Amino acid sequence: MCGIVGYIGTRSAVPVVLNGLRRLEYRGYDSAGVALLHEGQITVVKRAGKIAELEAALRTSIPECTVAIGHTRWATHGQPNESNAHPHMDCRNEIAVVHNGVIENYAALKRKLHDAGHVFRSETDTEVLAHLIEQFYVRDTNLEQAVRRALTQIKGTYGLVVVAAREPDKLVVARNGSPLAIGIGDNEHIVASDASAIVEHTRRVTYLEDGEMAVVTCGSFSISTLADVPVENFVQELTLNLQEIERGEYEHFMLKEIHEQPDTIRNAMRGRLIVEKDEVKLGGLDHVRDTVLGAKRIVIVGCGTSWHAALVGEYLMEQIAGVPVEVEYSSEFRYRHPIIGSGDILFAISQSGETADTLAAMREAKVKGATVLGIVNVVGSTVARESQGGVYIHAGPEIGVASTKAFTSQLTVLALITLMIARAKGVSREKLSLLVRELHELPEKVEQVLRTSDRIKEIAQKYKGATNFLYLGRGANFPVALEGALKLKEISYIHAEGYPAAEMKHGPIALIDEQMPVVVIAPKDAIYEKVISNIQEVRARKGRVIAIANEDDHEIEHLAEDIVRVPRTYGFFGPIINVIPLQLLAYYIAVARGVNVDQPRNLAKSVSVE
Ligand code: F6R
Repeated sequence: MCGIVGYIGTRSAVPVVLNGLRRLEYRGYDSAGVALLHEGQITVVKRAGKIAELEAALRTSIPECTVAIGHTRWATHGQPNESNAHPHMDCRNEIAVVHNGVIENYAALKRKLHDAGHVFRSETDTEVLAHLIEQFYVRDTNLEQAVRRALTQIKGTYGLVVVAAREPDKLVVARNGSPLAIGIGDNEHIVASDASAIVEHTRRVTYLEDGEMAVVTCGSFSISTLADVPVENFVQELTLNLQEIERGEYEHFMLKEIHEQPDTIRNAMRGRLIVEKDEVKLGGLDHVRDTVLGAKRIVIVGCGTSWHAALVGEYLMEQIAGVPVEVEYSSEFRYRHPIIGSGDILFAISQSGETADTLAAMREAKVKGATVLGIVNVVGSTVARESQGGVYIHAGPEIGVASTKAFTSQLTVLALITLMIARAKGVSREKLSLLVRELHELPEKVEQVLRTSDRIKEIAQKYKGATNFLYLGRGANFPVALEGALKLKEISYIHAEGYPAAEMKHGPIALIDEQMPVVVIAPKDAIYEKVISNIQEVRARKGRVIAIANEDDHEIEHLAEDIVRVPRTYGFFGPIINVIPLQLLAYYIAVARGVNVDQPRNLAKSVSVE
């Protein structure tokens, strides 16, 4: 969602901040702005739309400065226009604030401040912060004292940076529920909501914890709690690599990430799948191994693509390991007063590790006594920190807004957890051996599918004008149908629905005519014949069938208008392979329709509001 970058040092600040904001573009935003300090004054420049618009505005008449803060906003309170864009200022234009998160009690505070004479210029919750700080920023008070006092009145989440014209030698930063990192350079500091805005300047960072704030100057920084108790800082080396957050030879991050999947799946298995011993080692679950193996049932929560991964996880764990599994949308979990308690395991799946709904579900389960474990990509994220154990998927930074490589890595990790449980529960050595081998061979099979890209591109050209799509799959491929439809919706803006293939005749069949492309995932597995019957039903109504079928399936040639070939694998691992053509199909259709694939409208990479 929103992004924050701040710079204080000896270099020209605006290019550093703009460059940092560009690194955060992938998170999704609809307006951007910067505030810069120059000769005891703050200048704010903001624009609705893309950073390029802001950059163009900054090209004219901007003074040279060495302190600046910037923001990309994803609208929550108020439309995505210039006045609602951050930074926000107080009445006297002496304080500027950029903020990620949501101030829940902003309406009551705004009323009070308004009655006290403050004049508001936006509809945002953030502007309240600027005026509240102003209220406390009286003579003989410094900025950090004023920020500290203001924050004690705030209910909600924030990652924020504040500057004041009166104290141009410092940035004041604070965190509660929204990440904030301080990058430590040579006589300079870069603060940001995401390490990808820092890594090209320095690898040394420290992260604020919730309830902490810091005063950052050119040459030093000091962290304290909101109650003004000093906190010792813990400096870490970033493992992030610049190449990982650059597009390289690819036209879009999404395409790069689709093509990275053979490697990312390998990385998810590396050191964990011990092929020679038919064994799985998951260090992050060692200390809770007995609890996992003894669990009465497992509940898996997630949102969007991560929820689709959870649905596949349900098939894997129930069918292979024999454990009862329930899957729930994170956003629904706590509102249905779930019956969950000690003896239950809750796995939270999240790429970003910052999804507010998933965090809320985890907290609910924890309060009720369940063991809460994470399946997360971003190391050190809030989901990772609030989990009692878990498994990182190690997919590397996912920049494209539409999740691709994280999905296949989540499935790989779910398969590993399943095998770990299955082995302990005494699944036959023969079966285990087969599963281990099949899993181990997946990256090569994904490579084979990627080699069919040109064929998928042709299919995309043929169907790019469609206004609706249906995706059908059965068993573990039903969630793949959902995922294929979600990818298409997100990046091409074509309406698409995923259905269990047999469910089609209970309603959606009414939509089928000669205009309707129907993507059917039809691997040669135990329910192949049933899927073929569903394809016949589509054909009988003149629907246009695009089949995802195995290489040795000749029967399908008489039934489908277009076919993408995928290698065979063990049925429940099929989703890892079958989703690849659907990712590519969505990608090529979106490109053909001229959509900005990496930053589709209205979407944010990490949805940190409930
Ligand atoms: C879809 C997509 C979203 C996310 C969802 C959960 O392409 O990216 O549906 O999967 O917002 O995000 P995480 O996994 O970060 O919790």
